[in-house]
Amino acid sequence: MFAERLAQVSESATMKVAAEAERLRRAGHDVVDFSVGEPDFPTPEHIKAAAKDALDKNFTRYTAVAGIPELREAICARYKADYGIGVTPAEVLMTFGGKQALFNTALALLNKGDEVITHAPFWPTIPEQVKLVEATPIIVPTTWQDSFAVHADKVLAAITPKTKAIILNSPGNPTGALIDESAVAAIADTAAKRSIWIVVDLCYEHLIYEDVPHNLPKVLFDRHRDRTVLACSASKAYAMTGWRAGWTIAPASLTKIFNTIQGQTTSNITSVTQKAMVAALTGSQQPVAAMRDEFRRRRDSIHGWLTANPAIQCVKPKGAFYLFPNISGLLTDTVSSSLEFASQLLEKEHVVVTPGEAFDAPGYLRISYATSMERLREGADRMLRFAESLQPAKASAR
Ligand SMILES: Cc1ncc(COP(=O)(O)O)c(C=O)c1O
Repeated sequence: MFAERLAQVSESATMKVAAEAERLRRAGHDVVDFSVGEPDFPTPEHIKAAAKDALDKNFTRYTAVAGIPELREAICARYKADYGIGVTPAEVLMTFGGKQALFNTALALLNKGDEVITHAPFWPTIPEQVKLVEATPIIVPTTWQDSFAVHADKVLAAITPKTKAIILNSPGNPTGALIDESAVAAIADTAAKRSIWIVVDLCYEHLIYEDVPHNLPKVLFDRHRDRTVLACSASKAYAMTGWRAGWTIAPASLTKIFNTIQGQTTSNITSVTQKAMVAALTGSQQPVAAMRDEFRRRRDSIHGWLTANPAIQCVKPKGAFYLFPNISGLLTDTVSSSLEFASQLLEKEHVVVTPGEAFDAPGYLRISYATSMERLREGADRMLRFAESLQPAKASAR
């Protein structure tokens, strides 16, 4: 009855936990939610003011599909300032969030049967979009023992004659890991020789907590510009998830194809959002820095609290706003998977976490620290209590 291409595409594995959390909330329980994938801060005032001004001036009509020139120029200026790369407005197209940036890319590049290499643990949308266009995701695993590092040789070893693209996500969801510039350079050198596209999901590009080099746009532009797509988003950096603002930076020839796809589907992103985005990109970046500082404090705190239990093995992530601990040391005969752990943690302690199964990583949990320090402390205490409740059983089983 429905299109065959959907047979391979999964629904989110987090739905069950979310539905259960909602049930508990409605029943009046104090639920601590560590599953949120968005900043808990409001959109900065000057961005909202620009949107109000746009409304007052009746800036409410269709715009160019790719976005107003003023905004595309603002993006070019931002990437010049942040990364030292020269982008022209013909290489920029505004999308309804990073999601549409990636989906336009999948539609424009992939044929049935093409292979796309990406790394796990992954944000599920990446492989599911590949499947939606009937291409095949090829997954290169990474491990916590190795800080979830993506190694160029492993990615390159996955290349076959069918490989059309490599999708990288850095900082990564759910791990918060960064991909080294040197790894991206080595991947790009080979991709350039074999005409393979590289797509980088930079959705968390402004949420990096360590002073480490991470100029992936420049690394790619220097080596492989004619087959690079940067998929970007205002959602996390500017606390603008609901506004739906993302963009691609890609060769002008590909951007033209994006124009065709978007022109026949959604057309331009919301006119008012575009004016807000001009303010976000050209105005003070201080609010971004303030949010980043607060996220860093929270990361340090919750990482310290949870790893006080040595069975919670957790790399301190360098970016995004998630911890991704390995909790397999806590599993027992009755709580035998991270899915079961998440479900029991919710039932017994009313804490919502996302089980690793959602990211092709059983044995892990994703804990979002996009919530107040107070709630983090409360949730961490409950998690530690739950972990301890499992440990005697574990000891006696030995
Ligand atoms: C890794 C990653 N990329 C892209 C996105 C897309 O976000 P949006 O469509 O809100 O820009 C998300 C959202 O959670 C994400 O985690």
